[in-house]
Amino acid sequence: MCGIVGYVGPRASQDILVSGLARLEYRGYDSAGIAVIDESGSLGMRKRAGKLSALREALAAEPIGAGTTGIGHTRWATHGGPTDENAHPHLADDDRLAVIHNGIIENFADLRRELAADGVTFRSETDTEVAAALLARAYRANGGDLVGAFRAVVHRLDGAFTLLATHEDHPGLVVGARRNSPLVIGLGEGENFLGSDVAAFVEHTRHALAIGQDEIVAITPDAVSVIDFDGNPVEPAPFEVSWDASAADKGGWSSFMAKEVSEEPEAVANTVRGRIRDGRIVIPELDGLDELFTGIERVVILACGTAYYSGLVGKYAIERWARIPVDVELAHEFRYRDPIVGASTLVVSISQSGETMDTLMAVKEAARLGAKTLSICNTQGATIPRESDAIVYTHAGPEVAVASTKAFVAQITALYLLALHVGRVREALSTDDAAEAVVQLEELPEKIQWILDNEQERIEQLAHWMADTRSVLFLGRHVGFPIALEGALKLKEISYIHAEGFAAGELKHGPIALIEPGQPVFVVVPSPRGNATMHAKVISNIEEIRARGARIIAIAEQGDTAVLPSADEMLRIPLASPLFEPILAVVPLHIFAMGLATAKGLDVDQPRNLAKSVTVE
Ligand code: G6P
Repeated sequence: MCGIVGYVGPRASQDILVSGLARLEYRGYDSAGIAVIDESGSLGMRKRAGKLSALREALAAEPIGAGTTGIGHTRWATHGGPTDENAHPHLADDDRLAVIHNGIIENFADLRRELAADGVTFRSETDTEVAAALLARAYRANGGDLVGAFRAVVHRLDGAFTLLATHEDHPGLVVGARRNSPLVIGLGEGENFLGSDVAAFVEHTRHALAIGQDEIVAITPDAVSVIDFDGNPVEPAPFEVSWDASAADKGGWSSFMAKEVSEEPEAVANTVRGRIRDGRIVIPELDGLDELFTGIERVVILACGTAYYSGLVGKYAIERWARIPVDVELAHEFRYRDPIVGASTLVVSISQSGETMDTLMAVKEAARLGAKTLSICNTQGATIPRESDAIVYTHAGPEVAVASTKAFVAQITALYLLALHVGRVREALSTDDAAEAVVQLEELPEKIQWILDNEQERIEQLAHWMADTRSVLFLGRHVGFPIALEGALKLKEISYIHAEGFAAGELKHGPIALIEPGQPVFVVVPSPRGNATMHAKVISNIEEIRARGARIIAIAEQGDTAVLPSADEMLRIPLASPLFEPILAVVPLHIFAMGLATAKGLDVDQPRNLAKSVTVE
């Protein structure tokens, strides 16, 4: 969590930093601040609790001047509540050094005691101020060498950090270091940038450099230098950002979430694009990597949140098409239970941001145990793909709203492409299945668009009527089960309503006790064409809860007349093969959650207590 931006160049940095922070606000939004140094070496700093708008107001009332070197931070609180004092930057060395930080310094209490004994007084409760005080002490000991100070300090810090600092003695220099937290470099002409991700600087440059684990970077207007924590020079890997700044703007939509739901067809289309050749699935990134898939006996999928639910859907496809057993695990549970994986396991991680700390640590643990690792990720240059043996990017474009929508459908799409690829490599995929899957994948974007064009208004109306609802249940079977879980999560995240997702078959083993007259229940109904027995079972489940007073909102394919008499509301989706239904059935649930939160007057993009990219464990 926390967004970080740094700038050195000829331009006044205040606006560059604030607009960078606006693009990073999804990473945390409980306080924000910037520090700027002008050419005479005078440091100005403003920081405010609350969203970025509070900092903007403070800067409008009292601008910071024309300094051309600066750092900025948007915070998701870990140590110390969201107050002005705890907001970053933190100052040290007689307020001549400014420091910002993303991550958690685990040994901060010991360090704070040590520094306090040394006479340092602290103004905040943060671990960051401890790092700032350490840097100040090392800076003096190193005769005013900021990079040298970083080298000395990084070895004293346990945990995760991206640290950026700028000092009055060195106008035109920003120094940063990273361990287990993200940081990328943006290369401009006569100016350079640092950011938690490329969104921080994409409106200025699309040329970027990836900074590796345990590296220190120094940027000036004309130069970038990177060393490892032991001082050895490092050649950072260059990459081009494939989207431009407008892709990360709201573009006339009422919220990023509304824009991103509207982009679900495109997210799927772009993820499939270039990966079907002559009617066959071909994933160019996996060329020459067949041995990742041939020698394995098991797949373990690791992810958190919405990405975990996409993994649950992916399991059905991989088992069906590649005939390998798949376990899907929450990344944070995997790491601490002494997992049994090794050379015959392929660990597939799924992460929109590619920075989720729980997922990253689980991938590292899997690699340490000898497993092969493949990352499904939406963000170029992110850490998890860089730590993996192979990458399949989802091409959903930048996702800004905290609640994931278009990335979710793109993740399922990428998992299906992977399943088909592995099935072919292992010669487990039948020709019929392969041919049918290609057709289905190609038709998906149009079908999602049909839902947006024909059902969105009605779903929003329904959400409006249900604005006072206190609890909503979601049921599904087979691939519909993870979709029920995702529907419930989305509603919890942005509308703060109690919501639960259940496997429809599990109903009678407990959850049915929750049903009382008027209880709204969404039911994902499988196609009767795909599996008549399962369809009939779900209709029976509906009848069981209707008999107890539930109000049924069915999501069913067009023309499924059998469900009509049992449903109070019916949301239609186009016809698709059973495995492809979840990518369609989730769309009404995304629209519903967004509609209900909007009807309650809530901020759908920045729900309370959450951050999009959780870079702490
Ligand atoms: C956070 C976000 C969720 C997201 C999850 C995993 O909890 O609020 O929307 O699904 O992280 O994020 P990732 O970037 O790894 O997909």
